[in-house]
Amino acid sequence: MKKKGKEEDEKEDEEEVILGNLKLRVLLVRDPSEEILLLWALQQPALAKQNQFVDQTAVRFHIDACGYNLCILQAPSCLSASGVTGGVMWDSGVILAKFLEHAVDAQLLHLQGKKCLELGAGCGLVGCVATLLGAQVVFTDLPDRLRLLHKNVNENLSSFMTSNVASIMDLKWGDEIPSNLFKPSLDYVFASDVVYNEDVVPELLSSIRGLCSPQTTVLIAGELRNDSVLERFLELALKDFQIGRIQETSWHPSYRSQRVAIFVMPLGQGEGGDSSVILYELNERGHYCGSDQMEIMLKNFSDYYAKRKIAGDFSVSLSCLRGHGHLYCSNQYGKMIHGWPKTIRF
Ligand SMILES: C[S@@+](CC[C@H](N)C(=O)[O-])C[C@H]1O[C@@H](n2cnc3c(N)ncnc32)[C@H](O)[C@@H]1O
Repeated sequence: MKKKGKEEDEKEDEEEVILGNLKLRVLLVRDPSEEILLLWALQQPALAKQNQFVDQTAVRFHIDACGYNLCILQAPSCLSASGVTGGVMWDSGVILAKFLEHAVDAQLLHLQGKKCLELGAGCGLVGCVATLLGAQVVFTDLPDRLRLLHKNVNENLSSFMTSNVASIMDLKWGDEIPSNLFKPSLDYVFASDVVYNEDVVPELLSSIRGLCSPQTTVLIAGELRNDSVLERFLELALKDFQIGRIQETSWHPSYRSQRVAIFVMPLGQGEGGDSSVILYELNERGHYCGSDQMEIMLKNFSDYYAKRKIAGDFSVSLSCLRGHGHLYCSNQYGKMIHGWPKTIRF
């Protein structure tokens, strides 16, 4: 009998599923460290060309999408300011934008009339393409990064801005989210190249959780630069979301890179109708406590909701799905703190 090769064994371990609103079979991510191994060992991102589709030194970036020639203005000088990254385009943004176009063309994705939000939009290409594909898009980023975003949205979507189909808002990850952003529910949350700093992964996920209802699908693309940051992201995300990796063969044929991964993430199934809630709460010194603060949070439990409170160096975030909620605490290094789980029925 023919012996099975290593690659065949690895293929057998991979489970293909359909997740969220995307009508496409994706590889289910079950174990973050296994996923990291697969991506780095098999895909070999370090061998692939960096900035394959972008030129971060140019002040204008042109790309054809949805029958338009989009002109994205860049601010290359931003890269000399520490921590400022949104002034130029990144490969994963181009790849996600072209994936949306390709998936809509192939009828695997429907964006017509859908309510969408882009996190960390930077120059705004992904949101612009989603708008051209018929979606109603809110572009978000840090307050001091919105000037360039406004210029790009005006330049490429002027007629959409007046009809309020495209709008821009500041949203810092982890901050309280204005309810009009997720009521009525969002259909899609998009993000590209936002998973690169381990310190802000909990805040980023707190915002993603807060924006999502069971009808929301998150599409997130990222460049494979740092395995430990991505592993941290997947570990925390798996607590609330199902995660699938979209295989490169499903991307736009001209926009593929071994350095990039695209994930689809709908909310997980929760505990199915159980109205229990697990609470963890800390005081400023990191000791667990039960207090008025907990009461305040429980009042908001009837809806899908995420909230963040800072107590000293500790951050607390809450998410809730069909009456089942988790309150997460992390220290200043973004590490989750476990202990004192309390189950409350309400
Ligand atoms: C590497 S850029 C990617 C920009 C764009 N999505 C793309 O793919 O070209 C990361 C983006 O995340 C935004 N960002 C970083 N930290 C953030 C935070 N704490 N809250 C909100 N946005 C943040 C940055 O301003 C920037 O626009």
